[in-house]
Amino acid sequence: MVKYEEIIAKALEKATEIDEKELETYIEFPKDSANGDYALPCFKLAKTMKKAPQMIANEIKEKIEIDESYIEKVEVVGGYINFFVNKENLVKEVLNEISRQDEYGKAKIGEGRNIVIDYSAPNIAKPFHIGHLRSTVIGGALSNIYKYLGYNVTGINHLGDYGTQFGKLIEGYKMWGNEYDIDKDPINELTKIYIRINEECKKDEKVLEACRNNFKKLEDGDPYCVELWKRFKDVSLKEFQRVYDLLGSKFESWNGEAFYSDKMQEVVDILEKKGKLVDSQGAKIVDLSEEGIDTPCIIIKSNGSSTYATRDLAAILYRARIYDYEKALYVTSYEQVLHFKQIFTVAKYLGLDEKYVKGLKHVPFGMVLLPTGKMSTREGTSIKLEDLLNESIERAKEIIEKKNPELEDKDEIAKKVGVGAVIFNDLANNRLKDEVFDWDTILNFQGETGPYIQYTYVRIRSVLNKVEELPKIEDVDFKVLTDSYSQEVLKLIYNFQNILVQVTDKEEPSILSRYLIDLAKAYSSFYNENKIIVDDKKLQSARICLSYATGKVLEKGCNLLGIEMPNKM
Ligand code: ARG
Repeated sequence: MVKYEEIIAKALEKATEIDEKELETYIEFPKDSANGDYALPCFKLAKTMKKAPQMIANEIKEKIEIDESYIEKVEVVGGYINFFVNKENLVKEVLNEISRQDEYGKAKIGEGRNIVIDYSAPNIAKPFHIGHLRSTVIGGALSNIYKYLGYNVTGINHLGDYGTQFGKLIEGYKMWGNEYDIDKDPINELTKIYIRINEECKKDEKVLEACRNNFKKLEDGDPYCVELWKRFKDVSLKEFQRVYDLLGSKFESWNGEAFYSDKMQEVVDILEKKGKLVDSQGAKIVDLSEEGIDTPCIIIKSNGSSTYATRDLAAILYRARIYDYEKALYVTSYEQVLHFKQIFTVAKYLGLDEKYVKGLKHVPFGMVLLPTGKMSTREGTSIKLEDLLNESIERAKEIIEKKNPELEDKDEIAKKVGVGAVIFNDLANNRLKDEVFDWDTILNFQGETGPYIQYTYVRIRSVLNKVEELPKIEDVDFKVLTDSYSQEVLKLIYNFQNILVQVTDKEEPSILSRYLIDLAKAYSSFYNENKIIVDDKKLQSARICLSYATGKVLEKGCNLLGIEMPNKM
């Protein structure tokens, strides 16, 4: 497809003698199409050109030579030069590209570049909760989008399968294991044991000591402890897998914290050799105060066991060597901002090539709130994720049952709509914003929701079903799609790949979700204004092609977010 921005930047380069790449960074997209499709704000050039923006704009306009088959009009308004894309050309470019490309928007931009995404990472023997859902959904969307742009992505589920809590679980199991049916309801039962042993630890210092010893024994490879730990892990993973199946999540690696148990000594040795490790009340820490971080990073606890941070540092060494990453992303809630600040700073001392330290990036996200406030495990307001997804599917089914009782495959469709609604809600806004989880909003077919996009898509499918076959692109008269409704849709479709690139620039999938809402809305306006099946076959063919193109992009975009599309609903 032609790149209008490049064409404009090239023409501007000739007129200004400023480098086209620099000019490209100045080009904006006016919100109101009355101001064109692209604009150059000339105050950006005022400093170098030492003139008033308006004067610069007029001068450039006089000089600029631009191919009218691409840009049909150039206008000066105030200090801006506005560029209007040739409408017919836009139709032609977009429809041609969509008919040619099975995977519209796909790119090779990332070729040869490795991205590691650490996401989901629930903790063994603990509930897979709604915070892990956000990580799973955001990380999964990023992974899909990077892959689509041609990057080599390794998605890692850095399971919380290690740490002192396992010493406690082992002790609790030793004491009361036979009272609980772990195979039947693993995580619930293990959680009960965990709560009970914690109570016991508070009462009895000796039990606490035994728990600590268990973890030490686990680290040293004691067969009994290792076997129990394996069992806890197996039963937990089985439960997690049910959630991943519902969400369609897949990972390239399942190396969790335990994977690094034999790789941490190297971290300790390097830090020791560099003189970065200091003793503090029996523990070994890295003091980060000179780096502007008040809390030190604990590497070895006073009882000799490793920490979450030590394991993350070992993981950085490993990932740099094995994956040779350009970016290593960590998708967790913003509660872990300090943790990542600490380990990214300590990573500077590990002797790694600087590019690996630079490539580390925390991708934090906000909390999930109930309309009544924060969720908390202790107060029992934390919802189990599997239940939540199943409830969403149930609710979707009720709505569908009411709207369209005749529908076949209701269960399959309810699953796509219910799960899609939850996923979309997680991605609908800037990830750092806390999210309110409210059923009525999430499943509103008319709101800015997953089901709304799915519904728009289904409408398109039913329009397409009304024609025997798709019109050939050669038979389409591009002129009939130069009205403002069609153009609005086409402009958005044209911009699809650009949107994907923006997502990866900011690690922000909501850029794509917002875009899909905009596209669905623009199509709905087009659809409400225009009949699609009409007597004028030329007109009908063109509108069918536009509908087909919109459907393709809605489907692809949703799939990239992890949402499946129903054919009917
Ligand atoms: N298991 C952790 C949690 O539930 C998240 C792990 C994130 N990844 C990492 N490399 N630290 O909070």
